[in-house]
Amino acid sequence: MQTVTTIREMQQIVRAAKRGSGTIGLVPTMGALHEGHLSLVRAARARCTHVIATIFVNPLQFGPNEDFSRYPRTFERDAELLTSEGVDWLFAPSAEEMYPQGAQTTVDVPELGARLDGASRPGHFRGVATVVSKLFHITQPDLAFFGQKDAAQVAVLRRMVRDLNFPLEIVVCPTVREVDGLALSSRNRYLSEEERSRALVLSRALRKAEALAATGTPATLRDAMLSEFEGTDGVRVDYAAVVDPDTLLDVSDLSRGALLAVAAWVGSTRLIDNLLVPAR
Ligand code: PAJ
Repeated sequence: MQTVTTIREMQQIVRAAKRGSGTIGLVPTMGALHEGHLSLVRAARARCTHVIATIFVNPLQFGPNEDFSRYPRTFERDAELLTSEGVDWLFAPSAEEMYPQGAQTTVDVPELGARLDGASRPGHFRGVATVVSKLFHITQPDLAFFGQKDAAQVAVLRRMVRDLNFPLEIVVCPTVREVDGLALSSRNRYLSEEERSRALVLSRALRKAEALAATGTPATLRDAMLSEFEGTDGVRVDYAAVVDPDTLLDVSDLSRGALLAVAAWVGSTRLIDNLLVPAR
């Protein structure tokens, strides 16, 4: 695996790769890699001729009081993991490389970007859409791999790709979990042992609601999730939603299925999780 830190060099590599007949797969990450990230890399490796992974802790998607400066950075180990997964190129630019002095153009998906996580993290999805559109321009992937774990991010990026005619396909990979149900997240490493066990309330709430999906209404599913949170000390729910996975708006019934999505602060760590329930 070759590590590339400048946009210019990455573009040269992509231009050369594009001269052949192969496909380029892109896996954008912020590093602190775990099995969830690696599942995306494996999916890309299985489907694409060339695989580019990126590690960039994107300052634009963090709010002023969020965890940008303390976000876990484990670059050496990440690079080893990506090497052993057969990644061809690791693109790991600096913040100055991505946002040089005077950079001011952003990509905004204003309505979708204000729903779910966007409601409590203003500007977050503008940061995500901006950096991902830059990564798409720089690496020109045929396929780009994202995790279902970040369901609102998937909705925002799908809409961006459609609206701005990016010539690529977004591939969404299933959420990877610990055996006890906790969705893997780089932020799990902030949790104390006690918080780690409290954090199980997210997946438990989703499973409770899922069990009601065949017979219940959106309201009964939402109430089931909320009551699960109410019974757990040290956890503050941000949202428990039953929405359309494309619009992120509340659904009025479950006939066409729904996205069950939750977000909560466990101590000072904000965690998210979701499940898709099928049409009935
Ligand atoms: P990051 O949180 O590092 O996640 C990178 C990718 O890994 C995302 O597509 C995310 O959905 C996926 N992922 C995270 N945890 C997962 C899990 N448990 N199972 C499956 N996939 C999982 O998401 C971002 O970075 C950034 O917003 C980014 C898209 C890189 C833009 O900066």
